[in-house]
Amino acid sequence: MSQRTLDGDNRLNLAAHWMPFTANRQFKAAPRLLVSAKDMHYTSHDGRQVMDGTAGLWCVNAGHARPRIVEAVQKAVATLDYAPAFQFGHPGAFELASRLADMMPGDLDHVFFTNSGSESVDTALKIALAYHRARGDSARTRLIGRERGYHGVGFGGISVGGIVSNRKTFGPLLPGVDHLPHTYSLEHQAFSRGEPEWGAHLADDLERIVALHDASTIAAVIVEPMAGSTGVLPPPKGYLKRLREITEKHGILLIFDEVITGFGRLGTPFAVDCFGVQPDLVTTAKGLTNGTQPMGAVFASGRVHDAFMQGPEHLIELFHGYTYSAHPVATAAALASLDTYQEEGLFQRVAELAPIWEESAHALKGLPHVKDIRNLGLVAGIELESRPGEVGKRAYEVMVRCYEAGLMIRVTGDIIALSPPFIITQGQIAELFDTLATAIKATP
Ligand SMILES: Cc1ncc(COP(=O)(O)O)c(C=O)c1O
Repeated sequence: MSQRTLDGDNRLNLAAHWMPFTANRQFKAAPRLLVSAKDMHYTSHDGRQVMDGTAGLWCVNAGHARPRIVEAVQKAVATLDYAPAFQFGHPGAFELASRLADMMPGDLDHVFFTNSGSESVDTALKIALAYHRARGDSARTRLIGRERGYHGVGFGGISVGGIVSNRKTFGPLLPGVDHLPHTYSLEHQAFSRGEPEWGAHLADDLERIVALHDASTIAAVIVEPMAGSTGVLPPPKGYLKRLREITEKHGILLIFDEVITGFGRLGTPFAVDCFGVQPDLVTTAKGLTNGTQPMGAVFASGRVHDAFMQGPEHLIELFHGYTYSAHPVATAAALASLDTYQEEGLFQRVAELAPIWEESAHALKGLPHVKDIRNLGLVAGIELESRPGEVGKRAYEVMVRCYEAGLMIRVTGDIIALSPPFIITQGQIAELFDTLATAIKATP
């Protein structure tokens, strides 16, 4: 690790690194650098302990620097640093795919490896298109996403995604994409606990889209079971079931983007378990390796996978893949992460902590500018009133205050999103919400 600091002769130059999803000039004027991490805490460059209220970026589900994972990565890189992903394999890739297939309910038994959530999304969209074509249904090319959806930053992902700032600067995007309405209503859902009662009927909008384009042109619908990045929007009760019924009726594939909800975040292995709805494809990443290595995985049902396994056996069935698909080091990290989740019963722990978490989050009701609080599993969204003409500034200031007080939170617009590692204790939950409450009160 670089020993350079932010001042003195050996000063770190911040100019060259163009930071992602960051206000670069603002950041570089007052940087927040992290130099190490262990369990629930980061250490900042100025030597302070900062509690991780966000599991990094929704990925460090078991907490930081967990011994089993660290050892597995060290051993893997020394044993098999790389193996070609095309036309060759290594045992870990097959072992991991089998374990994942066993974890996932229903017949989502085939796993395609990627390096990120964005790649998982683009992979799933491509599989959906190619699936229909493989079955001779090649007019099915339309993809349906949802307003306020986040599906990463590839051209596929931003096309089906519904976050305006992520789309507006990048041209016409993919053709033939339509969007369902988002599922949030302050009027009908404010301060709902868990899944809101209102909003299942919004799934019926898919019938309108089908009537407009005709089902025979639609390949797939992609949604996050619980929208995360757009500010924590748990699905209305019954919404996902309805979406499944309508897609099924019209021969449209349903893709769940579980990049955030996968690997325990809702107190079950996947949102598929939590909501009892079985899609055709599921995208994952993040918690797969506990954030330690870049890796994603797309789950496909037997029906989808088997549609490709036809024709001469010497031919490649899907012209898609990445140099680092099922990278041996990432694979080892994933296997050790699954072991850690299992040995420590961490998904069960989320289910047990969820009621305490919900209570603590909703106790912020009544603080200045708090206009809504939402929660599910070990996730909470706290929405603040925006200052006129300055969307996002208030929450940003709360974030900086929290960081200075030793807590990392995440903000999107004026919504605060919390998603700590599953090892968080009840005492740390109390500390997290105390620090946050103090910061909200101090922010005009
Ligand atoms: C639902 C969802 N899909 C896709 C992504 C993109 O993942 P990545 O940043 O690993 O490409 C994210 C990232 O937050 C996400 O939340």
